[in-house]
Amino acid sequence: MTAAAALGSGPADPGTFALKKKVLRLETLYDISRSLAQARDEDSLLEEVVTRAVPVLDAERGFASTFPEGFSSGAVAVAGLGSLPSTVDVASDPFVLDVCRARGPVLRRDETVLGQSVATAAGVALTTAHGEVLGVLVVLEREERGGETPSFDEEDRRFLGSLSAVVSPALEAARQLRALSVDLDRLREENRSLKGTAEIDRVLIGDSPPMRRVKDLISRAASSRVSVLIRGESGTGKELAARLLHLGSSRREGPFLALNCAAVPESLLESELFGIEKGVATGVEARLGKFELASGGTIFLDEIADTPLAIQAKLLRVLQEREIERIGGRTRIPVDVRVVAATHADLREEIRHRRFREDLFYRLRVVEIELPPLRNRREDIPRLAAHFLSVIVSRDGRPSLRLTREGIAALLSHPFPGNVRELENLLEGAAALVAGETIDAADLQFGALVRAPVTSSSQDLESLEREHVLRVLNSVGGNKSRAARILGINRRTIYRRFAS
Ligand SMILES: Nc1ncnc2c1ncn2[C@@H]1O[C@H](COP(=O)(O)OP(=O)(O)O)[C@@H](O)[C@H]1O
Ligand SMILES: [Mg+2]
Repeated sequence: MTAAAALGSGPADPGTFALKKKVLRLETLYDISRSLAQARDEDSLLEEVVTRAVPVLDAERGFASTFPEGFSSGAVAVAGLGSLPSTVDVASDPFVLDVCRARGPVLRRDETVLGQSVATAAGVALTTAHGEVLGVLVVLEREERGGETPSFDEEDRRFLGSLSAVVSPALEAARQLRALSVDLDRLREENRSLKGTAEIDRVLIGDSPPMRRVKDLISRAASSRVSVLIRGESGTGKELAARLLHLGSSRREGPFLALNCAAVPESLLESELFGIEKGVATGVEARLGKFELASGGTIFLDEIADTPLAIQAKLLRVLQEREIERIGGRTRIPVDVRVVAATHADLREEIRHRRFREDLFYRLRVVEIELPPLRNRREDIPRLAAHFLSVIVSRDGRPSLRLTREGIAALLSHPFPGNVRELENLLEGAAALVAGETIDAADLQFGALVRAPVTSSSQDLESLEREHVLRVLNSVGGNKSRAARILGINRRTIYRRFAS
């Protein structure tokens, strides 16, 4: 309903007409400021303003817009316009620019606004208390009256000025609210990453300079989505680091799925990764791959160097395009997965021998984290040992467990080819052997399988292993589960080898 219609069509004396019009405009201002008081977002504010301003100014159409700025992409609302212009189009329109420069309301005839010729146009800038322009309100095409097109007039100018005065503070408030909520999100994110840092320190033991570097890298890389390559010998904590990268990210509520690329036969690796459609071969059921299952989370590709070249090519495509194709599938499926890969191999060497694709290497190692072998950070051994002992104590409900001075000295002089995993197993074994609360050097059974010397024949190695296992078995009175725990091998392996 236009203002003219609201005023009735009967003959009215011009004085009454003008007065009624004034009242209607004041009412509109009052209504708008009342509804603005319930501070809302920019979109609904602009909507409210333009849908009320157009009829009360006897215009045919109009738009209100804020401009893109900083974190804000701006907002735009229209009344009577066929299409919604973008905030960028509005902000660069010559008439709008004039309005912004003028600050006060602008009234024009024969203008071009948003690429269209109009007979009449009026606009006002929406500004902050400091005079910064937030946006504009523009109304177009004053309605015909008595066969002629009147211009927007002084009365309209005043009304636009008042409207701007009422609307601008609300817009400014909405913008500040928005900025605050962005700040809040940022603070929450920072808080989470701080918590993540504390978590990394609690879980990943070690204060040696190389470990401090590792922890710093993990906490900084965690929050981004970049692919991370973790290198290090077996047992140095690569998988633990991968889990921490996941836990420190915004994906922490999502899945963390690990796949050991060396443990899966080549024929199955592709379907493990990307899934397979039903009926690809007789009797094949449809199955989702790890990439789809890990959606929203992290996929950990362990022993990545052992991936066959054919699969490397497919992995590369997934990393480039963020889409997978199931075996036998006809469509490409978008996946939202963060990739963390690990290897004990020297990938640069593998590349030189053409066993690993260089392009895949660079995709995987956007960030590279190298876990140092334990022998290069011996100062971490006492704290690591204390950590593992306290885990054992609380798990097994023992009063306490500690190493004697000689015990610690023995640990410090051992080379630990099996790194932290070897230390962990060593202490498990010692804890199982001692009845009291102290572990002495003599209780530490160095030389689990990892330490078996390289021999000339596998026969020698086997007999060495067998001898060692028997020694451990004897020491625990033949308890195979206990021996398996000490040796860090599967109980079934012991049964298999020593069934007789
Ligand atoms: N810095 C560390 N602090 C505490 N535990 C560790 C640390 N490094 C490794 N571990 C533990 O040692 C074992 C082997 O670690 P893992 O991450 O599986 O090594 P990798 O994947 O490099 O072979 C795991 O039980 C892991 O929790
Ligand atoms: Mg591992």
